[in-house]
Amino acid sequence: MTILVTGGAGFIGSNFVLDWLRQSDEPVVNLDVLTYAGNLENLASLDGDARHIFVKGDICDRALIDSLLATQKPRAIVHFAAESHVDRSISGPGAFMKTNVDGTFTLLEAARAYWGALEAEAKAAFRFHHVSTDEVYGSLKADDPPFAETNPYEPNSPYSASKAASDHLVRAWHHTYGLPVVTTNCSNNYGPYHFPEKLIPLMIVNALAGKPLPVYGDGQQIRDWLYVTDHCSGIRAVLAGGKLGETYNIGGWNEQANIDIVRIVCALLDELRPDPAGPYARLITYVKDRPGHDRRYAIDARKIERDLGWRPAETFETGIRKTVQWYLDNPEWVARVQSGAYKDWVSKQYSAA
Ligand code: NAD
Ligand code: DAU
Repeated sequence: MTILVTGGAGFIGSNFVLDWLRQSDEPVVNLDVLTYAGNLENLASLDGDARHIFVKGDICDRALIDSLLATQKPRAIVHFAAESHVDRSISGPGAFMKTNVDGTFTLLEAARAYWGALEAEAKAAFRFHHVSTDEVYGSLKADDPPFAETNPYEPNSPYSASKAASDHLVRAWHHTYGLPVVTTNCSNNYGPYHFPEKLIPLMIVNALAGKPLPVYGDGQQIRDWLYVTDHCSGIRAVLAGGKLGETYNIGGWNEQANIDIVRIVCALLDELRPDPAGPYARLITYVKDRPGHDRRYAIDARKIERDLGWRPAETFETGIRKTVQWYLDNPEWVARVQSGAYKDWVSKQYSAA
């Protein structure tokens, strides 16, 4: 048996592939086009491991997906591939529509054709797992209850609108064609291999470089943070036991204001790598707010706990300490991401093609 993962060279996808192969010998075919966010160095520990088959390619390429499905015969598709950064979606929404909407559509159509031709037993076992976000639900007021699976969709950014569109496509392919789908909507992840354009890794790498720590607006926006391997275990639980056509929220029960996150990161760095120039919090700089900035996200994760017995293993205290330590222990990874050298592997590998 094999699973097909899309976007498995990105932050969560690469953590998922590593986590999967720590738990199981079931091979992973990893389809990733390697945008700026795809980094095969995240998977360097799998070099020479026959259980990981990397394929460089686009989820919008129907012929490629058809041929991958025909040759690899996966029992499931776990779909991470996406443009994921809200700020980039504001400055350039086109790529988000292409990958998140068209790409998901292409993948669903290929999956439908493949699944439709399977023998009865394989057909019944097949799963299309769509990895989505809590941002599709919009923004909460301070005293609103956390997002439940029944909340209406109210996406506010080009990114969240494109993810909402993809969630709707997945739902419709189940309702109309019977494709066996499950969807997970997760809150903000953090942990190793997080690209330093997102809040937590950006604050760590800027602080270590003595650069300003840019906090948008008043810094009082709230996110619900989940350690990335807890997201991976939640996906495994839903893939194994989730009800077809249903959606499951995944979250850390850990709401924090951005400014508090930045202060926690600074305090950990003060402890683990003190700066002779003074406390890292001196670098905090309030900057212009993100347009349309959602004020608060929070996840009600009771359904996945009640139905599938999932709860996060990490607390924020343990997860953020591991994360800061990981960045301190991996300065080469950070340097190669910042210099662009992580792309060298791709140009060497594919220059002859
Ligand atoms: P990421 O940006 O780090 O990685 C995305 C990966 O997808 C990259 O490896 C990239 O090369 C690949 N990719 C992009 N376009 C592609 C295409 N057309 N074809 C093939 N591969 C393509 O993203 P992430 O943070 O790891 O998020 C993964 C998924 O999880 C996304 O669907 C995102 O919406 C969702 N999600 C993310 C978070 C979070 O906090 N990061 C939270 C909830 C849900
Ligand atoms: O909620 C899940 C989502 O979390 C995922 O679907 C997205 O893919 C992921 O990128 C993330 O979106 P956010 O916009 O919440 O994450 P980001 O790290 O970009 O920002 C977190 C908060 O920090 C947000 O309120 C904006 C703020 N911020 C961010 C950056 C990069 C700053 O104040 N300064 C910054 O420099």
